[in-house]
Amino acid sequence: MWQREIRPGVHWVGAIDWDRRLFDALIPLPDGTSYNSYLIRGSEKVALVDTVDPTMKQKLLENLNHLGIDSIDYVIANHAEPDHSGSIPDVLDRYPGSTILATPRCKGMLVDRLVIPEEKVETVDDGETVSLGDRTLEFIHVPWVHWPETMATYLREERVLFPCDFFGSHLATSDLFVADEGRVYEAAKRYYAEIMMPFRSNIERNLEKLKGYEIDIIACSHGPVYDRPDFILDAYRSWVFDDPRNIVVVPYVSMHGSTRRMVEHFVGALVERGITVQQFDLAATDVGKMAMSLVDAATVVVGTPTVLTGPHPAAAYATLLVNALKPKLRFVSIIGSYGWGGKTVETLAGMLSSLKVEVLEPVLCKGFPRDADFEALDRLAVTIAEKHRENGFA
Ligand code: FEO
Repeated sequence: MWQREIRPGVHWVGAIDWDRRLFDALIPLPDGTSYNSYLIRGSEKVALVDTVDPTMKQKLLENLNHLGIDSIDYVIANHAEPDHSGSIPDVLDRYPGSTILATPRCKGMLVDRLVIPEEKVETVDDGETVSLGDRTLEFIHVPWVHWPETMATYLREERVLFPCDFFGSHLATSDLFVADEGRVYEAAKRYYAEIMMPFRSNIERNLEKLKGYEIDIIACSHGPVYDRPDFILDAYRSWVFDDPRNIVVVPYVSMHGSTRRMVEHFVGALVERGITVQQFDLAATDVGKMAMSLVDAATVVVGTPTVLTGPHPAAAYATLLVNALKPKLRFVSIIGSYGWGGKTVETLAGMLSSLKVEVLEPVLCKGFPRDADFEALDRLAVTIAEKHRENGFA
């Protein structure tokens, strides 16, 4: 049972999920996560910002009990995804006088998803405020981070921003505030890559919008609280706005060693030309790590053998993921091997329709690679080095 004060009268009342290892049946959580919920007590009214995953609702209710909270006026639903809204029905059961505040789009989602009465949810416009007496909450609509209905809540007098998922990190830690910036940077970058990167243009607009606010603390709903907001704001600006870097990501899979041999040679050829390479064996890798590597990369080269006339399913999955995450890549290519033919290149290239990338000449070899194949890989490495140089990717 923990409830900790981040500002006078503003308490963290969430739950830490040390043991969770998968989110949405998709995203690996090597370091667990937290569901941060915050209680704000004003001179006249009390607000709860976001709740917790329903699996941990008891923690939230215990924390509120421990603080002696016998009524809550507003439950702010910044986001409808169940890890933040899923305990709202339990909060309403315990505090039946509460009103939920949400964006109009979020209201519909909450009613549909949680099966709660429509009249329990009041909508708030962008820029609208609610007074708690001596404290004011301002609602800032920040759509598409990473669902369409999202908003942030700003506590004006304390200059605290509660942006829910935005700027968050999947990190279970007993530190209330960021204590180890290196560790949090990595977790936040992974989170950005997996969850926010596909919405980069919306993130860009929302970052611009937040420039108008003086912020002393960013209290997200996953991971530790930022008491040095520039740390995460600068990181986001770099991930969103900076050009790609002189990096090639090589996700690959090999069945009998031919593709692996090609990858070894190719990676060596890239490194000799001053390119940073991040190589991932798809049979064993953590796809979250691969996603993170895409944030800054200029080029992806997928390595795959041909299976049943097409790419290996692991390579197809990685390619699908690259396409879905929409990184700021500029170039892609494919290398690999085949036994007697197939449509590996056409199939993989056809899976990249969301990306504005140039597809560089693929290198496929029959059987085990020989001198001519290694020379073709060298030529691909030279082309990539030239393209990166011409574009000024450093
Ligand atoms: Fe942490 Fe989009 O939920």
